[in-house]
Amino acid sequence: KVTPVILCGGGGKRLWPLSRGQYPKQFLKLTGAWSLLQETALRISDPARFEPPLVIANEDYRFIVSEQLAEIGVPPHAILLEPAARNTAPALAAAAMLIGETAPDALLLVLPSDHLIARSDAFSHSVATATAAAAGDRLVTFGMKPTAPETGYGYIEAGASLAQAPGAHAVDRFVEKPDLATAEGYVASGRYLWNSGMFMFPAALLVEELSSLEPDLAATVAEALAERTVDGDFIRLGARFRDARAVSIDYAVMEKTSRAAVVPGEMSWTDVGSWNALWEVSERDGAGNAVAGEAVLVETRDSYVKSSGPLVALLGVSDLVVVVTDDAVLVTPRRLSQDVRKVVERLEALA
Ligand code: GDD
Ligand code: MG
Repeated sequence: KVTPVILCGGGGKRLWPLSRGQYPKQFLKLTGAWSLLQETALRISDPARFEPPLVIANEDYRFIVSEQLAEIGVPPHAILLEPAARNTAPALAAAAMLIGETAPDALLLVLPSDHLIARSDAFSHSVATATAAAAGDRLVTFGMKPTAPETGYGYIEAGASLAQAPGAHAVDRFVEKPDLATAEGYVASGRYLWNSGMFMFPAALLVEELSSLEPDLAATVAEALAERTVDGDFIRLGARFRDARAVSIDYAVMEKTSRAAVVPGEMSWTDVGSWNALWEVSERDGAGNAVAGEAVLVETRDSYVKSSGPLVALLGVSDLVVVVTDDAVLVTPRRLSQDVRKVVERLEALA
């Protein structure tokens, strides 16, 4: 069986004003009855195939995480709490060391808590392929067919097929967040996949790779883990965790390791990075509008409208994002919705 590790740390600045520091996007019920975190936990809730998940989150989110898991009836293995966000390499180091203490052979399935994946056989199939590859001592990524030269993703060049895991390939190159010209070249070549941000690896292999590639980080996290305190489901990492180098697993390990593999995923996947991404996956009417909440749209096309209360009226506009909450209103062209983070940064500078 596989042990899921759910990463629950991001701020989700680009989904302001709905996503806030206090309540980031993984906790929002953006598309249906359940939040993105709950959808993630439900995806791996089959006890025949998965152990209970280890959730890693910031101390500030402990109650939201535990309430949301209780609401869907998925008891966690534990909720591992970070005293400060140090990005994904320290978080995953802590997870792999903790699980590795009692189950050194455990295969970890790392899942970001803020992605939208259609519940389908394709996900199960990719996980099965990844399990075979990871069991052959590989750090497995899940590759997605790129549709645009996005610079916010990692790019993977797939190499030779792995004999012990049909459908999986060795990774010839992993490049995290290339510049636009490079990303354009990769997409045009047809040889690269996007890194989805999900991973699967033996706990011991990640610890081994981190110990050789980032020895200080690994040692610091080991100390933080040794200082931990346990309080019911919560496991608090020691204060030493704050000293770990803040770096993502993509830069720290995936770009450098020679043990990477990729499973080209067939599932429909979105990282819900922006309002535009949400418009793309939402149900739209004949005029291309996606509407949530009370709204009247006249002669309006291809827009995303969401209101948590007030009635919104649009007349004679197109390609807009309009999001209304109790205390804030956002209006922006859809194509600029990646830049909503600039609004948040301005607000933070003013605060
Ligand atoms: N617990 C914890 N602590 N979780 C964290 C932390 C942290 O300090 N930092 C980030 N996370 C979580 C986020 O909540 C998210 O679910 C996941 O880890 C990935 O972090 P992001 O900050 O969203 O990374 P990214 O989107 O820039 O890049 C990653 O995902 C892309 C796909 O969406 C990389 O893996 C890219 O290669 C990939 O293409
Ligand atoms: Mg992300």
